[in-house]
Amino acid sequence: MKVVRTITELRSELKDLKSERGVDGKIGLVPTMGFLHQGHASLMRKAKDLSQIVVISIFVNPIQFGPGEDFETYPRNEAQDLELAEKEGVDLVFIPTVEEMYPVPTKTIIHVSAVTERLCGASRPGHFDGVTTVVSKLFNIVQPDMAFFGMKDAQQVAVLQQMVNDLNINVDIVPCPIIREQDGLALSSRNVYLSAEDRAQALVLSRSLQAAKQALESGEARTAQEVRDVLVSIINQSSHAVIDYTEVLSFPTLEPYEDHEDLSERNHATLIALAVKFGKTRLIDNVLIESK
Ligand code: PAJ
Repeated sequence: MKVVRTITELRSELKDLKSERGVDGKIGLVPTMGFLHQGHASLMRKAKDLSQIVVISIFVNPIQFGPGEDFETYPRNEAQDLELAEKEGVDLVFIPTVEEMYPVPTKTIIHVSAVTERLCGASRPGHFDGVTTVVSKLFNIVQPDMAFFGMKDAQQVAVLQQMVNDLNINVDIVPCPIIREQDGLALSSRNVYLSAEDRAQALVLSRSLQAAKQALESGEARTAQEVRDVLVSIINQSSHAVIDYTEVLSFPTLEPYEDHEDLSERNHATLIALAVKFGKTRLIDNVLIESK
């Protein structure tokens, strides 16, 4: 496994790898912000399954953090990340500095409309502009055939899929399932911020999503509001939970349903998503209900 920190080095290493592995070798890219866990590892495994050259990037991208968010305190541990990547058989790790990625403040921003308007797009203004801009840069730098993203960030998947469709970017977006702890908590780099008490209370998130899914599938809840009521009643069992949003939307278009729309008649996938704060830590989670 090679570690490179500049775009020039990355391009030259990739050229060597391609000539070693044959011109038909597909490049799989896993973009990350580091502090890697088994969720990230699952993307690397999928990349290893589907491509011949696996590249990961570790870059805490300042332009996707808003003022007052956790850019400065975002957890970092390069040595541990490299150990995990090595174990997963990654070929190349790209760890640029902020100066390497943004030598001058970027004047070009990729903005995807509509699918960025609700959920985290509403709570974190400008966040997805930062994500689409950095992911476009990574796509141009690495020129992968495939890129792997977790459904933990379902809106991110929808937004990036829209971007590659709209701009004819020749990269397959491969969505990968959410990896959870045994007790249901979705793995996240931000889980380390949680106190023991909040960590225990955060179990209401996955529990509420499972209950909402069940209520929808059994017909006990029929409208988006009824599904949200199930979520809210369970999240509120935690005294520390402060809800940012609970939403029930079509996927991947991320449009809301009409007030009385009967979801049992839908012919597309439905995303049940939430963002909840425990102290300063904002956690997101979701469940996707496939169409019938
Ligand atoms: P980061 O939060 O580090 O996540 C990197 C990738 O890992 C994302 O595709 C995310 O959805 C996936 N991931 C995180 N937790 C997961 C889990 N529990 N199960 C499955 N996949 C999981 O998302 C970002 O970084 C950034 O926005 C990035 C795309 C790198 C652009 O800066």
